[in-house]
Amino acid sequence: MAPTQLRYLPFLGLIPSTLATVLPRASCSNSITLPGEVPEGASQNVDPNFPGFAFEQASWVPYAQSNSGKPNEFSKNLMNAITCRTGGKPIIRLGGTSADYAKYLPKQKEAAIPRAEDLTKNFPDASYIVQVPLATTNVSETVEWAKAAVQRIGKDKIQAIEVGNEADLYGKLGNSKLGPPEFQGVMTNETYVGNFTKYAEEILKNVELPSGPIFQALDTSAHLSRPDGYIFDKIVNTVAHHYYQTSGGGAPELGPGLMTHSKISSRLDLYKPFIEYLQKSHPTIPFTISEVGNSLNKGHNYDYQAVLGSALWQVDFQLYGLSIGIKRFNWQQIMHAGYDMWLPVESAGTKPKVFSNFYAQPFVADFIGNTSGKTRVVYLPIEGSKDNVVAYAAYVGGSAARVAIVNLNLWDGGNGGERPSTKISFKVPGGVDGVEVVKLSSPKGARASADSITYAGSQWTYESFGKEVKNVRNDTEILEVKEGCVNVEVKNSKTVIIRLKK
Ligand SMILES: *[C@@H]1O[C@H](CO)[C@@H](O)[C@H](O)[C@H]1NC(C)=O
Ligand SMILES: *[C@@H]1O[C@H](CO)[C@@H](O)[C@H](O)[C@H]1NC(C)=O
Ligand SMILES: *[C@@H]1O[C@H](CO)[C@@H](O)[C@H](O)[C@H]1NC(C)=O
Ligand SMILES: *[C@@H]1O[C@H](CO)[C@@H](O)[C@H](O)[C@H]1NC(C)=O
Ligand SMILES: *[C@@H]1O[C@H](CO)[C@@H](O)[C@H](O)[C@H]1NC(C)=O
Repeated sequence: MAPTQLRYLPFLGLIPSTLATVLPRASCSNSITLPGEVPEGASQNVDPNFPGFAFEQASWVPYAQSNSGKPNEFSKNLMNAITCRTGGKPIIRLGGTSADYAKYLPKQKEAAIPRAEDLTKNFPDASYIVQVPLATTNVSETVEWAKAAVQRIGKDKIQAIEVGNEADLYGKLGNSKLGPPEFQGVMTNETYVGNFTKYAEEILKNVELPSGPIFQALDTSAHLSRPDGYIFDKIVNTVAHHYYQTSGGGAPELGPGLMTHSKISSRLDLYKPFIEYLQKSHPTIPFTISEVGNSLNKGHNYDYQAVLGSALWQVDFQLYGLSIGIKRFNWQQIMHAGYDMWLPVESAGTKPKVFSNFYAQPFVADFIGNTSGKTRVVYLPIEGSKDNVVAYAAYVGGSAARVAIVNLNLWDGGNGGERPSTKISFKVPGGVDGVEVVKLSSPKGARASADSITYAGSQWTYESFGKEVKNVRNDTEILEVKEGCVNVEVKNSKTVIIRLKK
């Protein structure tokens, strides 16, 4: 046999293994080992609804409705660009501090702004996580709020009722003026469980709800311990935490603050015992991150929070999170916050626009794919990779379908030098005869804002009204598989999906 024919033989699957061992070794440095079948340590099946949304109660109106009072088509198109990629529906959380500390006045006739719940009809395929207050000591107020919300949104659109926002911070925020007239104050495990149970039971008694467990528990800011007790039985359908990678940060901290994988993985790893506990003891209750953003930067530092580097943080955060069993994410948006994915209307002299962080979402959604929940994700160690280049594999229906490489090394063209890259090579499973590489990047590097970023060559802008504009940049590559091996170079501050083609 001529050597040129030899290299195709392994794919025929006909050669006895004894013969296969005498074949020349492929020139593959195997920086990743990609098992053909789902390896141990892979996630459970990924929920197609994993890329969710969250709007601070007070910002929901402009996200849902245009300045002229019509459904906000720009928001709708952007949300659809994400959810259509997994075949999921948008799960929208309406909540946050403003909802917990607000007062509900059932007799108020003239609303100053449109009622939040009435705008849910602008997104007819969405489901809602509705937060009701726990901060107030008047449980009737919470019951009335829940009743009105469920009636106005529609029982069949309720994903969960979330009782209280970040109760671990009650009495610790240092701003007593925010609190309702009578305010719960500091809670312990016991008093949290006691109050949660009391409020949930009053809602159950007085509000017509969908059948089955319907409450979302915890929604804590950073409280990692696990209050055991009644709340995990019968009434809870989701356990949620909130996450912000940093609490500040400007342009110089972009690398250490957001573009450092070990800081992402070490913080997410703290949730592992909780996730494992739920999977073992309450397997029907998912663990989610119901409010997340890159940084709580009071100065809305767009050079830190709304650049390619922050979008790469968002990619790595989600892929690592999915790999350890986090079920869904609700990406928080507040008008003019630095971590936003888009500004929905013209406001404070700024035209509506798409921010860099949006680009993480079509990327991660495509990596999981439209598989009716048959994708599992695994983190793949890279041999010899010292630091900040990270790999994940997506298995669909049991076999390897895609590999993602996130190169978090910061490059911003600063010294005019060439953009360094990491070479990754790995053996593909039998039957794979080519790969397609799609990229999320900008030629300007980590500090680029959305206007020069593309994913798979596409852009989403206000000018396109949030619809995908294809072929803005033709940087998708088709690579050959040589001797069963594929070689990919991933430049610094760039992330790619390698699709295995059979
Ligand atoms: C997702 O998959 C479903 C079922 O296979 C299909 O009906 C739907 O059209 C797909 N959606 C997209 C956007 O491809
Ligand atoms: C508690 O809330 C209910 C419903 O809004 C209201 O009728 C009642 O007056 C409130 N009680 C107090 C003590 O504020
Ligand atoms: C609710 O929390 C407060 C403050 O921690 C506590 O005093 C009260 O006993 C709790 N109520 C229940 C029913 O646990
Ligand atoms: C809350 O409960 C968990 C689990 O039982 C325990 O590990 C933790 O120490 C408790 N925290 C507090 C503040 O009591
Ligand atoms: C990319 O390719 C498409 C289709 O071949 C072409 O229409 C488009 O102009 C190209 N875009 C660029 C930026 O070269």
